[in-house]
Amino acid sequence: MDQSIIDILNQPKSIKENLKFLNDKVEGKIVFSSSFSMEDQLITDAIFSQNLNNIEVFTLDTGRFFQETYSVWSKTLLKYKYPIKPYYPNTESIEKFVLEKGINPFYESIELRKQCCHIRKVEPLQRALKDATVWITGLRAEHSATRNNLNIIEWDEHYQLYKYNPILHWNTQEVEDYVKQNKVPYNLLYDQGFVSIGCAPCTRAIQKGEDFRAGRWWWEDASKKECGLHSS
Ligand code: ADX
Ligand code: SF4
Repeated sequence: MDQSIIDILNQPKSIKENLKFLNDKVEGKIVFSSSFSMEDQLITDAIFSQNLNNIEVFTLDTGRFFQETYSVWSKTLLKYKYPIKPYYPNTESIEKFVLEKGINPFYESIELRKQCCHIRKVEPLQRALKDATVWITGLRAEHSATRNNLNIIEWDEHYQLYKYNPILHWNTQEVEDYVKQNKVPYNLLYDQGFVSIGCAPCTRAIQKGEDFRAGRWWWEDASKKECGLHSS
């Protein structure tokens, strides 16, 4: 990608302008990963409402999402009438894992938790990113210390593509305002104290004053709380 394009994407223009620019000017496969979080729904709205057909929206359906997550997925399809490509765990791997380790082994050890995340998310992600030039995410800096070190656009050595985090420096209020103003469907769990939503057995609501990601894999040491999607 030309440095001039990178410079433009780094400028604090509106999310819609930046995604349209990316869609129109960048050659190669552009993909956006959505977990149906509020952040991701905002980006999905900016893509679908402007008919940005060069950007493929996909989700990694772990099979363990909350019903509320499936509902927001369904509402999104109804509202925008654009496809969202689902990726599923490799059948053989997940069948073997559940047979040998049981259905909820992630509470037993970090190793088993990571194996589950690998089969249900990381390996499908590798397929979703195959041949992509740009990977768009809904990562935000204020979510964790490691994410605070990211750049809006950067070369991802592991996946050999540009990773673009267009709302990296947005705060929660800005995200909520966009979603409200644009009537974007959002996960109803946010109204029940959830702030970061992943798989149902590994996510809980947080108490006032708790860290943003405290409800994710809450039984683990705080330093281990990444599933491998963004930590490579
Ligand atoms: S995670 O690494 O802890 O699971 P988080 O839930 O904060 O990630 O989401 C950060 C970004 O990762 C999202 O904006 C999205 O781009 C991507 N992501 C996370 N989970 C999924 C998923 N199940 N499917 C697609 N993308 C996802
Ligand atoms: Fe498995 Fe939990 Fe990881 Fe989801 S978040 S893939 S259920 S360990």
